[in-house]
Parts: sequence; structure tokens; C-alpha cells
Amino acid sequence: AIRGELLDFKGVVSNPELLPENVRHVEDGLLLVEEGRIKWRGSWEEGKNLIPADAQVYDYRGKFIMPGFIDTHVHFPQLEIIGSYGEQLLEWLNTYTFPTELKYSRKEYAREMAGIFLKELLRNGTTTALTFCTVHPQSAEALFEEADRLNMRLIAGKVMMDRHAPEGLLDTPETAYSESKALIEKWHNHNRLSYVLLPRFAPTSTPEQLEQIMHLKEEYPDCYLQTHLAENQNECAWVKDLFPEQRSYLDVYHHYKLTGRRSTFAHCIHLDEEDYRCMEETESGIAFCPTSNMFLGSGLFPLRQAQASNVRVGLATDVGAGTSFSMLQTLNEAYKVMQLQGEKLPPYEGFYLATMGSAHSLDLDDRLGNFDEGKEADFIVLDPAATSLQQLRRDNSRTLEEQLFVLMTLGDDRNIYRTWVNGTPVHERN
Ligand code: GUN
Ligand code: FE
Repeated sequence: AIRGELLDFKGVVSNPELLPENVRHVEDGLLLVEEGRIKWRGSWEEGKNLIPADAQVYDYRGKFIMPGFIDTHVHFPQLEIIGSYGEQLLEWLNTYTFPTELKYSRKEYAREMAGIFLKELLRNGTTTALTFCTVHPQSAEALFEEADRLNMRLIAGKVMMDRHAPEGLLDTPETAYSESKALIEKWHNHNRLSYVLLPRFAPTSTPEQLEQIMHLKEEYPDCYLQTHLAENQNECAWVKDLFPEQRSYLDVYHHYKLTGRRSTFAHCIHLDEEDYRCMEETESGIAFCPTSNMFLGSGLFPLRQAQASNVRVGLATDVGAGTSFSMLQTLNEAYKVMQLQGEKLPPYEGFYLATMGSAHSLDLDDRLGNFDEGKEADFIVLDPAATSLQQLRRDNSRTLEEQLFVLMTLGDDRNIYRTWVNGTPVHERN
């Protein structure tokens, strides 16, 4: 039994203007958790008699209890290069990313970094992530093993690339197929783990490799697929050169049948109307990566345009081009991205994006994203005043929305008081 200030959303909300009436806020609330699932949610007064006699009561009054954050796009083998100076995407990949990813051919190293990576997610309140590993199957093995030990709902896979990268980071069309298949057979739907097919991006896969990935997608339709799309102008020009027969960058993926309900595309800054139509028709989703897009100077993601096209959008850190594991810091930056486009990001929408919106974008809204009965019990306890400045600012906030906006602006890992995964506490702030 968990007591505190509950905050979640009724369900999937396709029009952001309807979010305020879909907020569920219970000031003195109660969550009953049994065998890793939400058994009951409501007010303390109504629910206190339902608490089993032998149940432990965790009293988190004065703190918010929210569904765990869902990071829809992050790279585990880029921990070591967060905040690497001076470059935009293509130079950044060659200068920093590829040399670092080479280290993950060593399973021991990958295992050590996987532990650090998952701990970093949990101490930032992120309970689910769609995670890129490296091209080495052992990097994915290491991450799956560690996530399985923590019982996390994690989506991961090995990257596939067979050109335009150092020799030690290349597979082939055939090994991309066979190694991914072996990993799928071992890990997809194993406990809370899922597999995602990961062509890095169009420039690093030959048409022959994309064709093999198409076969994998056909063979395993409930596997996820994710890749990068239309992040940077030079990248877009390069794809035009490499695939002159395709109308657009997105069409390269669509041609190989890589779009679809379980497909999500990171960045999507430079799409046109026809691309949006294709995204909508194929029910593909987008991972919005504000800190990364700002850090690499990639551009401003047009969130309102994506929503107007009925495309599902989730929030993502994109560490190591992203500069923080914190989804609160990610919302801070997302707000500024909207401001630079003459728009706003209301706090309810921010928190919706980080929880239910991200769950919906990954087709996980039947399991995660809010506190409906039967949902998986991954949640966080948020301390709304972790620093004296936050306390001061909170004392000067009148409404719930204002308090949430302060969290979105000033918040980070210090605000994550507890993280629970599968009905078990897995992180306690010192
Ligand atoms: N495009 C291809 N690979 C990458 C990557 O690792 N990070 C980002 N941000 N964009 C990419
Ligand atoms: Fe990325």
C-alpha cells in the first residue's frame, strides 16, 4: 500500500487541449499493489479499509506519486560521451560515437556499463526505455541480462549497420539477420523484455541489409523497429544521394516496409506533408529528443504539426547526444523548443508526454502509463522541493499546474525520491 499525492491521466488523449480534464489528481491518495500490478487506486479515505492486514504501508505524503517515466529513445553505449564538444551529427558520430561504441565488443565492459546505465535510468525516475546497444550482439546480451535481473520493462536490440562506419562496427546483411534473429528468439517477450530491430539510420545500411531487416519484420511482426530519421540537414542530403530513387528519407524506410504500428522514428525534424501522411497512414510514431536536437544544433521539432497529423509522439533523452538522463530536464528543454516556435508546452502536457504519451507511442498503453487497475506497478515518488530554491519557488506557486511547471523547469534527479519497478522499490535517494 502506497500513500501520497497521486497524479496520472485517465488514458490516451489525442487532443492536448483535452488534457486538463483528463488529469487525475488525488491529494491524499492510495495505491494498492499486488504481484507487480496496480490492484486499486483512489483516495486514502475510500481505500484504507481495503489494505490487507499484513500489507506494509509506505507513507509518501507530501510527495507526488506518478507513473514511471518512459524514455522512447536512448543509446546505452554512449554514456561515456555525453557532452562531447563542438560537432553536429555526422562529425559527432565519427569523432566521438563510433570510437566509443567499439569498446562494446568486450562483453565484460558492456556488462559493467549496462549496470551503470540502468542505475542512471532508475535514479532519474525512468522505468522503461527503448535502448540502442551497439552492433555487437554481446552488448545487447549484457543489457538484457542486467534489465532482467531488475525486472524492468525494457525494449532493446543490437544495432545493424554494414557501411560508412569503422570495420569493427560493421555487420553484413546476413549477420544482421542471423544475429538479430538469435537475440529475438532468446529475449523477445522474455519476462518484461522486448526486442527492437535497429538499423542505425539509412546511411549505414545498404539496400541489401534493409531488405534483410524487412524479412525480420515480416517474420516477427510484434517486434519493435526504431531508427533515426531526418535529424540533420547534411544527413538528409546524404540520404538523398545514397537513395536517389526514393522520394524522401522516410520513403527509404517505407519502401522496405519498416514503417508501422510498432515502428518509431527518432528526431523527425525535417519531414514534409507527404511524410506526415505516410506516418499517419502506417501508424508510425515519433521520438521527440529536445536536449539532443538542441545540443547537436539539429533543429526544432514541430510537435504541433505532428499532433495535427495524428502521429503519436513520445519523449526521449537520446543520451549521449542528449545531455541528460532526466526526463524533467528533457521537459525543460522541450518547453524552450516550443517557445522558439511561438508555442507553449503546458505542464500537464509535459507530464503526459513523459508517461502516457510515451507509453502510447510504444504501443504499451495497455500495460503502462497510468494507474488503472491491472497496469504494471512501475512508478516514482517525486519530491517537489528537493532544493531550497525549489522550496522557495513552490511556496510561491498557487496551483497544481504551477507546481508541476516548477518541477519541469528546475527539476532533475534530485527530485526522484523513490523509484519502484514491478511493485518493488529499486531506487532510494540518499
Ligand atoms: N543518427 C545515427 N546514429 C545516431 C546516434 O547515435 N545519435 C543520434 N542522435 N543520431 C544518430
Ligand atoms: Fe539517437
